[in-house]
Amino acid sequence: MQALILAGGKGTRLRPLTVYTPKPIVPICNRPFLLYQIDTLRRAGIKDITLSLSYQPHKIEQLLGDGSDYGVNLKYTVEPQPMGTAGAYKYAEDLIRERTVVFNGDILTDLDLKTVIREHNARGATATIVLTPVDNPTAYGLVETEEDGRVRRFLEKPKADEITVNTINAGTYILEPKVLDFIPAGENHSFEYGLFPTLLERKEKFFAHIPQRTYWIDIGTPERYLQAHLDLLGGRVGRIHLKERRGNFDSATAAEIDELSMIGDDCFIKPGAEVINSCIGPGCYIEEKARVENSVLWPHTRVGSNAQVIGAITGRGCHIGRSAHIGPGAVLGDKTSITDYSQTGGEGE
Ligand code: GDD
Ligand code: MG
Repeated sequence: MQALILAGGKGTRLRPLTVYTPKPIVPICNRPFLLYQIDTLRRAGIKDITLSLSYQPHKIEQLLGDGSDYGVNLKYTVEPQPMGTAGAYKYAEDLIRERTVVFNGDILTDLDLKTVIREHNARGATATIVLTPVDNPTAYGLVETEEDGRVRRFLEKPKADEITVNTINAGTYILEPKVLDFIPAGENHSFEYGLFPTLLERKEKFFAHIPQRTYWIDIGTPERYLQAHLDLLGGRVGRIHLKERRGNFDSATAAEIDELSMIGDDCFIKPGAEVINSCIGPGCYIEEKARVENSVLWPHTRVGSNAQVIGAITGRGCHIGRSAHIGPGAVLGDKTSITDYSQTGGEGE
């Protein structure tokens, strides 16, 4: 048993964060995102993992190498141009001619993968798709199931009037190698619009797995990226435990840092500064009386004295001037410089 992680998308909805950092390795609580997926696989005993890349592949390879630092064996395939989700799987065919777990490379979950695999095997399924409930399925792939767990219908990005159920494709599949034969070689092809409808037409054994009490979020938009942090900091992700919340950093005794916040190494938190429910990357400076709340700061950001950053995300090496107010929903790209006293218009009071 092995795994393929689809990590070749451009991450357009997460711009500007993904301009210099590909989505699969954006930091989540100061750790490259893919490491959480690698943990999920390793917990299920899967160590042979292929990463399917296309956008900025070298940055990912450079960071993760052969996987030995993380207790797994990593291999890479790099498409000359994005081939689509199923096209990427087909492109990796020489490396995955056996039963394979496939992950969308932007899902943070504490899924118990062993149970999914056990169920797939017990049913003798050709394909198993994990589902999750969401409030609004329009941004996802809607999946209707039969009583016995078979998939009845798959509808990618349904319109509001096409929604029949709240269960959607959670972006985790177990696939038997025979499905490779249903995907055309050398073409752009998608699981969602191509392979899954094909499996249904062919009446293949295509089953759904609906896990109980499982955390699930697609980190692919700024709102959800921030939400994933707040959920992790708040301890709402059952099986994912944060490593040390406090790195080696310098803090004035008169600064306030709440219990939930995570602070990276080599930060300076100055007197009167407040850090609340936030994740601060390594090497950040929070100057006198600055306030950072419900926010994520990437490494080497400086928040000037009396400035406020509330409900926002800042990329690497940003500079927030004195008394500036960065309000909810703001997302600053790497190296953004905000002039003293600027206001972003959110309710960052
Ligand atoms: N290698 C490669 N090549 N990877 C790709 C390509 C490609 O051409 N296109 C997309 N990916 C990767 C992305 O990097 C991402 O990790 C994953 O495939 C899914 O692509 P997204 O662009 O994030 O899709 P989505 O979020 O709109 O929808 C998908 O995920 C939903 C769950 O979050 C679909 O699978 C939906 O059905 C599903 O509900
Ligand atoms: Mg996505």
